[in-house]
Amino acid sequence: MNNQDKIMIEKETTDKIEIKSKNGLNEQELEVKMDNMSDLNKTTNGLGEKWPEPIIRVQSLAESNLATVPDRFIKPPSQRPNETITINNQPEAAAINIPVVDLRSILSGNQEETERISEACREFGFFQVINHGVRPELMAAAREAWRSFFHLPVEAKEAYSNSPSTYEGYGSRLGVEKGALLDWNDYYFLNFLPLALKDLNKWPSLPSNIREVVDEYGEELVKLGESLMRILSSNLGVNEEQLQEAFGGEDFSACMRVNYYPKCPRPELDLGLSPHSDPGGITILLPDDQVAGLQVHHGDTWITVNALPNAFVVNLGDQMQILSNSIYKSSEHRVIVNSQKERVSLAFFYNPKSDIPIQPLEQLISSTNPPLYPPMSYDQYRLFIRTHGPRGKSYVESHVSLVNG
Ligand code: OGA
Ligand code: NI
Repeated sequence: MNNQDKIMIEKETTDKIEIKSKNGLNEQELEVKMDNMSDLNKTTNGLGEKWPEPIIRVQSLAESNLATVPDRFIKPPSQRPNETITINNQPEAAAINIPVVDLRSILSGNQEETERISEACREFGFFQVINHGVRPELMAAAREAWRSFFHLPVEAKEAYSNSPSTYEGYGSRLGVEKGALLDWNDYYFLNFLPLALKDLNKWPSLPSNIREVVDEYGEELVKLGESLMRILSSNLGVNEEQLQEAFGGEDFSACMRVNYYPKCPRPELDLGLSPHSDPGGITILLPDDQVAGLQVHHGDTWITVNALPNAFVVNLGDQMQILSNSIYKSSEHRVIVNSQKERVSLAFFYNPKSDIPIQPLEQLISSTNPPLYPPMSYDQYRLFIRTHGPRGKSYVESHVSLVNG
């Protein structure tokens, strides 16, 4: 399935690249010319200020009590979830789960625990973290503030409606291809870092505590991200600051996507979020404490994540696979929905500075371990997902160094 939508990248010059999409869902060929990618203010990234067609708020569909979902939300049979979630399942009852790591134990030097996180990064690119230092009250407050926001009438949220160029604000789709199939979620996207991109006016003003709570939440998650970066760096056998330096040192970036998955009348036909790997560095997800839905692709199955109380679910994005020269794996994951309960999740992204070249760390490169990926800035890289939407791991799998190229 991953290789169905091959993206071919041909580097023409350093500041102009051509992206060709072959065998895309609607057989569309797309060319994006990018000049001056580093200057986001100019909106020269090829993505416009408008979506290709009127936006459908999934919340509105869910509230209109339809017996089924519109055609645009019906996946072809091969992409449908083969099982749906039973809401009353107790998380503890799950037989398989993703690895659980205890951050406090790692920081106090426990070798076994360090080995566990290292293994999780290499095998799964996914783990849950407990004893992470973020107060449970703050986690709950952030989740509930966003839940209240999404419960506002759709009209109250349209003021924050987002556009493809920056993505910031209230949105309901990823990708700009006209007629593309849609996922069953609405979301909110906002920036924390760099500070120049943090604009509280683009954050919701209701509920009344939301800006304050989200601001504090962001600060705490930045600290957690920094801590994970040091651990992941030394587990590669390089200096603990190496990965952070590759992210641009203090100039790294951080943003958040809050996902709202309303109840779906036909959960067996659609997905809350189609299979994808996250394009960035590290994702720290606060899942819904009541409702499961996140699934991780492992081997040839989809594992449903049963989050432990007050745990974060961490996954590595494509930039970590690139920097580690594929020692670490970014993980393919998706979200399934259900007809009984809505689901809210907060995905915090710890990313590189967006305009510097990202390539495998030179300490990991030798004549027997050549670099698997050519340099590319994160701005350029994430254009693929912003243009075409979720496509499994096809972006990172096609972003390979061409031997003799
Ligand atoms: C994402 C994501 C998972 C979830 O936002 O990239 O994968 O559980 N979210 O909502
Ligand atoms: Ni994701």
